[in-house]
Order: sequence, then structure tokens, then C-alpha cells
Amino acid sequence: MGGFLENKTEQASEQVPEPATQQINENLRNLMNMLKARALSGILTSFRSPKVIFGMTALNRLIDYLNGNLEEGERRALIITDDFTEKYGNQISNMLNKINIESKVWAGVKPEGPFATIDEAFKICEDFKPKIFIAIGGGSVLDSTKGLMVRYERPEMDLFNVAALEPLGLRKKLKYFIAIPTTSGTGSEATLASMLTDTRFNPPKKFTVSHPELIPDFAILITDFVKDMPPFLTMATGLDALAHAVGSYVSTIGTPFSDAMNTYAIKQIVKYLPRAYKYGAKDIEARSRMQIAALMAGLGFIHSRVGIDHALGHSLGKVLNVHHGLCVGMFLQYSIAFQMKISERWKDLCPLFGIDTKDKDNNKLSIEFLQIIKDFIHSLDGPVCVKEMKNPVITEKEYFKNLDLLVKYAETDPVAFMVARYIDSEIIKRIFEYAWDGRTIDF
Ligand SMILES: [Fe+2]
Repeated sequence: MGGFLENKTEQASEQVPEPATQQINENLRNLMNMLKARALSGILTSFRSPKVIFGMTALNRLIDYLNGNLEEGERRALIITDDFTEKYGNQISNMLNKINIESKVWAGVKPEGPFATIDEAFKICEDFKPKIFIAIGGGSVLDSTKGLMVRYERPEMDLFNVAALEPLGLRKKLKYFIAIPTTSGTGSEATLASMLTDTRFNPPKKFTVSHPELIPDFAILITDFVKDMPPFLTMATGLDALAHAVGSYVSTIGTPFSDAMNTYAIKQIVKYLPRAYKYGAKDIEARSRMQIAALMAGLGFIHSRVGIDHALGHSLGKVLNVHHGLCVGMFLQYSIAFQMKISERWKDLCPLFGIDTKDKDNNKLSIEFLQIIKDFIHSLDGPVCVKEMKNPVITEKEYFKNLDLLVKYAETDPVAFMVARYIDSEIIKRIFEYAWDGRTIDF
């Protein structure tokens, strides 16, 4: 996930001496407080999306489109994959060869998108001069390709200096950036955000590059490429999509377009994620619906903002090495409960989870709503508190030993600046404490 100002915020937190960091954070927080409203005039007044091709014929339709729309000097594609998705890259490369599009498969993407691998791909680009990027993979592949696109098109630019509100001038070298996800959760195939790792630091630092020009031109949903996801990955990535949709719907930022994307995504996730988790490759309909839901949730959150679950989740993931989707899914109930004190938008979502709202006051309804979120996650064998985590198991001693570090990372996470309700390190610490054994947020 991501959004404007994120890269600058992260940069400030990592590189500027402590007093200046605090000042910048304070200024940003004040700025964000002024902007925390729905339909941010002048900022959230457009709806951006890749062209989406889905269904049984998606791949063939992409091939036909490329065949018909590329000129003679444009028929060069770099296919970007990792070890696991290289086989899909080879399949598409063979199809491109048949229509006279030269292609190279580069399978060098590493988890979290380290700079060194992006530089390696950049050297290939300098030599091969591709006109098309086809990224096939999970979040790391799609995000690395976004970083590579900036590196290829603007080699003089430091990725840290990508400012979301200034034109970047991409697509002077590339004609199309095509994203083909092999998981159903991050929504990266439809978003402007890229989470990368700067290997110039020791230890390496994660940071986000966000820019509207990084939104892919095409998102191609090929169900064959996701159908064999193992159950854990199905659950964790599906919970990421759920956190995107619910977290950004209940935020006070957004537009009618983001509301439409988020509510439809939630309906689909509630119906199809349990089936995808249970039946895997045997339930192609559920797999296909989850692809669409994850993409829609991605479109939802880039036109609003995810909840505090993502700031907490980024931190837990970084400090104790937990899957992103598992973290944000687990923190979702705390995030909603925290937001409930200032907004009633959560009530719109009750019917989507099958809750009858008739004759129930807010208190009763809120208890029921939080419980159904927990039941839903439990039905997928997912955790709703840290104590319940199985992959990895986190001991109470280990968790509380790292509490200050968890708070520090969450507090300086870009997401924390966009949360509508006032939050500071003490409040974040309390949420982390409550999340150990699943206490309901009562403050
Ligand atoms: Fe996420």
C-alpha cells in the first residue's frame, strides 16, 4: 500500500538527525490534520486505474492487443519475474515470440525489492532497451518493477526523491507497463505504491516510492497463475485485501469511487476467501473472484487511505518477520475499534458481513461487528491477537522486549500520519499491548 508524501516521510525518519525528524514529523502531522476529510478538494478528485483484463481469455486478449498496437521498433519486452514465477514468464515469452515480439525473461527479483537487484535489471534495460515491462509475480516483483521503471526512465533520479505531487515524465522509453499478479492481496497491480529496500544502509531499510505514474497500464488477471497458491498464502494475502478495503472504507478519507471499490471488494472477500482457502485450485470461481476483489481493494485504498492496522502491521512485520497480510489482518479489529470513536462509517459494513442492524444501538452493533471480523479470520485459521500467531510463534517475552521498537516503527510509519483520529506513541503502545491477548480497544 502507499500514498502521497510517503517516500518523503520515510526518508526523513531514516536520514535526518533526531530533532529535525521530530520537527518534520510534527509539521507533517499538522498538515495531515488539515487534510483529513472526505473528498480532499484538489487532491482526491480523480479516479485512476489500469486497464483491467480478466477471465479465461485474459492472456490471449493481452497478446492480441500487443500484436495489434506495437509498431515495428516497439516490439521488445522485458519480462520481470522471480525464481517462482519464471515458468510463467517463459510461457508468455513463447507466446510473444510467435507474434514477432522479442523478449527477455529476467528472474532476478528478490523479496522486498532490494536496490541491488533493481540495478542489475537496469543494466539489462540499458542494453536491451525494452518498450514493454511485463511484471509477473507477487508484491515484490510488481513493486521492484515500479522501482525499475523510475530507474530506467529517469536514471539520474534518486528513488528517495520521487515526489508524488510532481510530474515524473515516465513512459518516454516504455510504452506499456503490464502487471500480472500471482497472489490476490497486495493490489499492487493497480496501485501507485512500491515498497523497496535500500541496501545502501546497514541493516537495509525499507521505504516506499509512490507516484501516480507508477500505476501499471494493464493489470491482467490470469487465474491459472494464482490457483496453486498454498492455503497459508491464500489466507494471508486475502486478509491483506480485506484490511485494505475495510480499513480504507472506515477511514474518513475517500470518494464515492473508493467507497464503491471497497464495499464490493468486501462482499466478494467475505463470500469467496473462505472457499479459496478451503478448496484451492479446485474452486476456480473463488480464485478468480478473489483476484478481482484484491484489485478492487487496491483501487479503493489508493483513493482513500488504509487504517492504522497497516502502520502497526508494517512494524510487526519488520521487527518480528511476520507476513504482511497476516499482520494487517490481525490488527484490523483494533484499527476499526480505534476509528469507531470518531466515525460511524463502520456501520455501513455490517450488512456486508450479514449483520442485521435493526433495533440495535451502536454499542451492541459495534460488539457484534468486531466479533464477526474476528470470527471471519478464525474461520481461515488466522490470528486475531499476537498470542495466537502460529507462523511464526511469538512469545510474550519476545513481543514485550521489542515493544518500544514496535512503537517507534509504527509511529514513524507514513500510514500513521494519515489516521484520522489523533494518535501518538503512548496510544500506539496501548494498542500493541491490547493486541497481545486480544483485548477490545476501550479508549
Ligand atoms: Fe497491505
